[in-house]
Amino acid sequence: MPQGAAATAVDGTGKDGGGGGGTNPSTARPAAALPLKLLRPLLLVAVLGTGFLAVLVLLLGGPAYSSMLPSLPAAADALPASVGKAPLERWVRAPASAWHNMTDEELLWAASWRPSVRRYPYRRTPKVAFMFLTRGPLPLAPLWDLFFAGAGDAGLFSVYVHATPGYRPDFPPASAFYRRLVPSQVAAWGQVSMLDAERRLLANALLDPANERFVLLSESCVPLYGFPAVYSYLTRSRASFVGAFDDPSPHGRGRYRGGLAPEVRREQFRKGAQWFELDRALAVDVVADDRYYPKFREHCRAPCYVDEHYLPTALSIEAPAGIANRSVTWVDWSRGGAHPATFGEKDVDEEFLKQLTAAPGKRQGNCTYNGQPADVCFLFARKFAPSTLRPLLRLAPKLLGYG
Ligand SMILES: *[C@@H]1O[C@H](CO)[C@@H](O)[C@H](O)[C@H]1NC(C)=O
Ligand SMILES: *[C@@H]1O[C@H](CO)[C@@H](O)[C@H](O)[C@H]1NC(C)=O
Ligand SMILES: *[C@@H]1O[C@H](CO)[C@@H](O)[C@H](O)[C@H]1NC(C)=O
Repeated sequence: MPQGAAATAVDGTGKDGGGGGGTNPSTARPAAALPLKLLRPLLLVAVLGTGFLAVLVLLLGGPAYSSMLPSLPAAADALPASVGKAPLERWVRAPASAWHNMTDEELLWAASWRPSVRRYPYRRTPKVAFMFLTRGPLPLAPLWDLFFAGAGDAGLFSVYVHATPGYRPDFPPASAFYRRLVPSQVAAWGQVSMLDAERRLLANALLDPANERFVLLSESCVPLYGFPAVYSYLTRSRASFVGAFDDPSPHGRGRYRGGLAPEVRREQFRKGAQWFELDRALAVDVVADDRYYPKFREHCRAPCYVDEHYLPTALSIEAPAGIANRSVTWVDWSRGGAHPATFGEKDVDEEFLKQLTAAPGKRQGNCTYNGQPADVCFLFARKFAPSTLRPLLRLAPKLLGYG
């Protein structure tokens, strides 16, 4: 008995097979082939070795090893249902709904993934993500729906709405805003909560791998051109449109806080309008930022305003060549004061819209696009009161070129 068992064990290690790797088990006679003298020391070494290892595992790694065991089934259960079905599918597909159960921490983490291989191994049509940061209703939504109608059904855009919690939108299924609300938190102007809302919008939009450009809009924004022009302008731009300028006055560098150093020095402090447009690479940088965001969160208090200084400053330091240092959203500061002008129903007529848009021989402003002087500088404008919807809808065919 012991002989046979020992022989089988030795055979099992594969070391004493006598070079007969291909031995047929039915014809092999290992027990008889091995001298008993040789077998005894081997058996002793095997038994002692196994015992020693067992004691070692119990003494050193024992508790840690056994406590790891119960977590294995749970980890496997947590895998998304899509795993194993169509492997590429889970990297390519957009979430079915804008709504989800993730915490901000989970969301920002999920949104921060990016492929290291730059070339997509499938036909990817870039989308523009239109991210609406609003307090509640979107009174100009019917104008935007006309605008989006110009995209056809080619899947060239996606819409995200961040609103005050409790707001229950009731858009018809045909609207581009239907079920596009993202889980939202209260956002106060000038506070960190405003930047948090912007990062939340970016992160939600990043969950759709087809989104390539990300534009922040408000409920008082209107498009100045039709969808095809806006899509082409954004997707063909080498730079992202983030306003950033160095203002040496008390309203610029004067708002610098010493606590921002050493990450941000006074001369690196920049100012710019909140209404940004980012490409996907910079959008990932912003949701993943753990260098500037914590500093601004802690130290940028009034008269430092996070929504006017964080993005222009962080991107001017980290990606100066990646931003155009200008916004694509026009706003009227000509009336002076702390707030830009709001336009009402009586302001909006054909002549007014002509002034806001470029025409042959008439530049919209003094700007460059991909290094060349450009006629079109602004794709959107604000601030438009709800009462402007009626004249805007009437003028939409002229403004958009369709509808
Ligand atoms: C969110 O969680 C609830 C309760 O756990 C669940 O019923 C619901 O389906 C979840 N929704 C999503 C979008 O995962
Ligand atoms: C934007 O400003 C930075 C300096 O902060 C500069 O390096 C960059 O060239 C500017 N971009 C454009 C498009 O002018
Ligand atoms: C346009 O902008 C450039 C660079 O900012 C400046 O040098 C030039 O004087 C401006 N032209 C006009 C007409 O304002």
